Amino acid sequence: MKISIHARPIEKANVDVLVVNLFAGVTSPHGATGAVDKKLKGLIRHRIKELDFRAEKAGESFLLETHRLMPARYVLVMSLGSRRKFDYEVIRRVAGQSVVEARKIKARTMGTVLHGAGAAGLDPQQCAQSMAEGIFLASYVFDKYKKKEKKKARISEVVVYQRDESQVAVVRRGIKRGKYFSSATARARDLVNEPPQALSPKILVENAQKIAQGPASVSVEVFEREAIKKLGMNAFLGVAQGSDEEPYFVHMMYKHPQAKKRVVLAGKAITFDSGGLSLKPSEAMATMKMDMAGGAAVLGVFSLLTKILPKVEVHGLIASCENMPSGKALKLGDVVRAMNGTTVEVLNTDAEGRLTLADVLSYGAKLKPDAMIDIATLTGAAVVALGDYITALMGNDARLSEDLIKAGGRAGEKIWQLPLEDLYEDHLKSKVADMKNIGKRGSAGTISAGLFLQHFVGNIPWAHLDIAGPAWIEQQDISYLPPGGSGVGVRTMGEFLESMAA
Ligand code: BES
Ligand code: ZN
Ligand code: ZN
Repeated sequence: MKISIHARPIEKANVDVLVVNLFAGVTSPHGATGAVDKKLKGLIRHRIKELDFRAEKAGESFLLETHRLMPARYVLVMSLGSRRKFDYEVIRRVAGQSVVEARKIKARTMGTVLHGAGAAGLDPQQCAQSMAEGIFLASYVFDKYKKKEKKKARISEVVVYQRDESQVAVVRRGIKRGKYFSSATARARDLVNEPPQALSPKILVENAQKIAQGPASVSVEVFEREAIKKLGMNAFLGVAQGSDEEPYFVHMMYKHPQAKKRVVLAGKAITFDSGGLSLKPSEAMATMKMDMAGGAAVLGVFSLLTKILPKVEVHGLIASCENMPSGKALKLGDVVRAMNGTTVEVLNTDAEGRLTLADVLSYGAKLKPDAMIDIATLTGAAVVALGDYITALMGNDARLSEDLIKAGGRAGEKIWQLPLEDLYEDHLKSKVADMKNIGKRGSAGTISAGLFLQHFVGNIPWAHLDIAGPAWIEQQDISYLPPGGSGVGVRTMGEFLESMAA
């Protein structure tokens, strides 16, 4: 799909559907909506009255046929909700909802005004970026395994009408950034949505290599089993040993010549989590191809870095394997020694993510970064605590945590901090090793996983993002988050890295 910008009056738009907007309580629209209303001989005003359409909830809409009163076939009147609550996230959702509505009438082309361009306190470039994100992210479909007749109709072009000539350049820049952020998110979504047989650790690595291929700013180093052994990553190898697929550890690097800060991003990348010998029940296992969403987010970020080129140095670390039961699998009671020397008693093979991350974080800490962030579908408890739309954050550095939460706010990705409570360290005590890989049953499962990880970061400023909830969308509640992989974290980390560069 293509988004273009025209400095022409919107009434002249020759598209299948034209989107105009309305703030809550407006009964006689001005601006672009007013101009379209005039062309339609007051039909919008009339319909507002008739439907008692108050536009209180952003994303509510009604559709009108134009009956040749203008070149567009349909006009979609979209509510922006109340002016007081209006922000970039509302723009994203409204733009996304326009796509959802346009698809219902099988529109191929859509015209729209830039929502909120004139609203007080909002930056027009950021408005344009948010709108483009809403449009691109809502248009995302994963239908490569469906036959042609079963594929959904797609919108091929969206035209943004911007009457004010002086704003065109800024809006164009915003749209371009929106496209970069959305494409990177879509890349992560694709990886998550691929069936596990088509996204083995090996294929994940090939994706990393593909991203690194073109741009000179990105490099990649791949460690195979023997090299991983040499690094001393025995916790990771323990998880991998039950599977017939080879494990891989990937170290990607992006470096801007003027970089002053070094950041490590570590992503959990279990391409399928069966639970191992602590086997998951079928329903819980059904979506476990998504257990590499953290790694996918890191890859998404790298594809974004090659576009936005922030002045930072970024290391992407991904330890990828399957978690499978077999005659070779880890047994309960096995003890593994992580790269930093810490020994871990494995009392539940389904708590495998923290084992792989123990080694990755040990490796990352050696790079002496200014900040280290891991992103992982780590605990079911995070879903219980925060549900499907909120990422849990834990960390050892208040400033870093705050910066990440703020970056999430800009990206439209909600993050909530949980405390790394010292008192709960006791839950991780093992009778035979330095630690065990599970906490106290039914008690602060997300925090104990965070505390576990903390043992491997040394004194590096570190934050842990548990995306077990938001990584996978079960049902569509938000226009631009279709069911399946969400690509959560890509835009937040992109925003964060840009703020590090500033
Ligand atoms: N990959 C799962 C966590 C998960 C659950 C992600 C649901 C997304 C949705 C992780 O490896 C796991 O199984 N964790 C266990 C830990 C427990 C055994 C201490 C869990 O949360 O049950
Ligand atoms: Zn697991
Ligand atoms: Zn897992």
